[in-house]
Amino acid sequence: MSETVKVMLSEEELASRIAELGAQISKDYEGDSVFLVCILKGAAFFACELAKRITVPVTIDFMATSSYGSGTVSTGEIQIKKDLDLGVEGRNVIIVEDIIDSGNTLNYLSELFKGRKAKSVKLCAMLDKPDRREVDVDMDYIGFTIPDAFVVGYGLDYDQKYRNLPYIGIVEGI
Ligand code: IMP
Ligand code: MG
Repeated sequence: MSETVKVMLSEEELASRIAELGAQISKDYEGDSVFLVCILKGAAFFACELAKRITVPVTIDFMATSSYGSGTVSTGEIQIKKDLDLGVEGRNVIIVEDIIDSGNTLNYLSELFKGRKAKSVKLCAMLDKPDRREVDVDMDYIGFTIPDAFVVGYGLDYDQKYRNLPYIGIVEGI
């Protein structure tokens, strides 16, 4: 059977929810500025769209991480593969992720930026899979809560494929 992708969240649904998140962030930080930390590669599409919907001054930088351990089982240890170019000290950091799954990545990064003396640290994810949580993480901004299924598109990949889909879908036939 060949792989097919079934649409879960359409391009229009994503655009309208991202506009709402942008409006909420603009309101929450009125009179101030935000520093978006985009976690590569998956969050790149979401972070760029979100940045365009925020009306307070925005700085954006990119970081790449990976979980230690083999296969699909995360051990909770996070490795930084590419660090930020800019410092976060005194800034209102919003960590922007594609999806929160076990919670290990966001939990680690949140502590990291607090240690680097950010003025504030908030967490934003396009998708949340709460059924898979291993550590408690307080999320500030969530696009959509979804069931425990493997999803692709809008930055998310399966074996480096499908990141470019303009919607979120479920791969069938794998
Ligand atoms: P965690 O919350 O530390 O487990 O990490 C979440 C990361 O796992 C995300 O940033 C994705 O890279 C990856 N991930 C989790 N669930 C999915 C999925 O359904 N599709 C594609 N990547 C996923
Ligand atoms: Mg990721």
